[in-house]
Amino acid sequence: MKKVKKAIIPAAGLGTRFLPVTKAMPKEMLPIVDKPTIQYIVEEAIQSGIEDIIIVTGKGKRAIEDHFDNSIELEQNLLEKEKFSLLEEVQASSKIDIHYIRQKEPLGLGHAVWCARKFIGNEPFAVLLGDDIVEAETPGLKQLIDQYEEVGSSVIGVQTVPNKETHRYGIVDPIVQNGRRHEVKNFVEKPAPGTAPSNLAIMGRYVFTPEIFMFLEEQQVGTGGEIQLTDAIQKLNKIQRVFAYDFEGIRHDVGEKFGFIKTTIDFALKNKELKDELMEYLKQVIK
Ligand code: G1P
Repeated sequence: MKKVKKAIIPAAGLGTRFLPVTKAMPKEMLPIVDKPTIQYIVEEAIQSGIEDIIIVTGKGKRAIEDHFDNSIELEQNLLEKEKFSLLEEVQASSKIDIHYIRQKEPLGLGHAVWCARKFIGNEPFAVLLGDDIVEAETPGLKQLIDQYEEVGSSVIGVQTVPNKETHRYGIVDPIVQNGRRHEVKNFVEKPAPGTAPSNLAIMGRYVFTPEIFMFLEEQQVGTGGEIQLTDAIQKLNKIQRVFAYDFEGIRHDVGEKFGFIKTTIDFALKNKELKDELMEYLKQVIK
């Protein structure tokens, strides 16, 4: 069985939920405390054993490329001022080799993944979406790769969401359960409220066999007038079993404002320099 070594990170979305800040700044560069959200995603990929990353970008996303590039002047400046730990942080984001491709039209997530097909070739690969940051002992993606190595076919990361949220996600209709792993009858993208077949929602972590591209190639338009990744998964599942894996760990939703604020507070409370002061401040606010 071929190893999962490549990952696609789609980052071409318009970020409309965060306007106006995303007018001139990619939403993937919005920071949680002091790191852009996309860096958490790249770090998870690397910690999961991924060796090659391709980011699918679009108009106005140049800041992402700059972030993962060397910054000679900045590094020199930090070196002269002997700010070694900051220097290390800055260098960490440019050590990784990242590839880029542009999605020329915003046609949907399925289309964004399809844009990276030539980079992937005939190998299994991972997809990580930037709207979810996963905090887990074993990185979220690593858990899926371990499952892939057991079953030899595609594995999709899921977690349980409350009824009132199912319409925001791709939802799976599970049939047979084996521990945290489910065989699935159907994958449904954003079911209308009250119609979801379960509460197991797709959480932005995927491992695919390359056969998914056969179905992305069809470029069929689905929910919201977009080419949906979930629709291609549904078709793949008819010819090759696609498993859903209820991965362990805390999923932070940074794709919408309230989740973003909560994540910022959670991460700041875990930060040595900030936690005491922030705790004091929160107490005052509650008063
Ligand atoms: C996308 C996927 C959806 C998935 C979600 C996870 O939706 O289409 O299946 O549940 O990401 O964040 P989006 O949030 O991009 O609309």
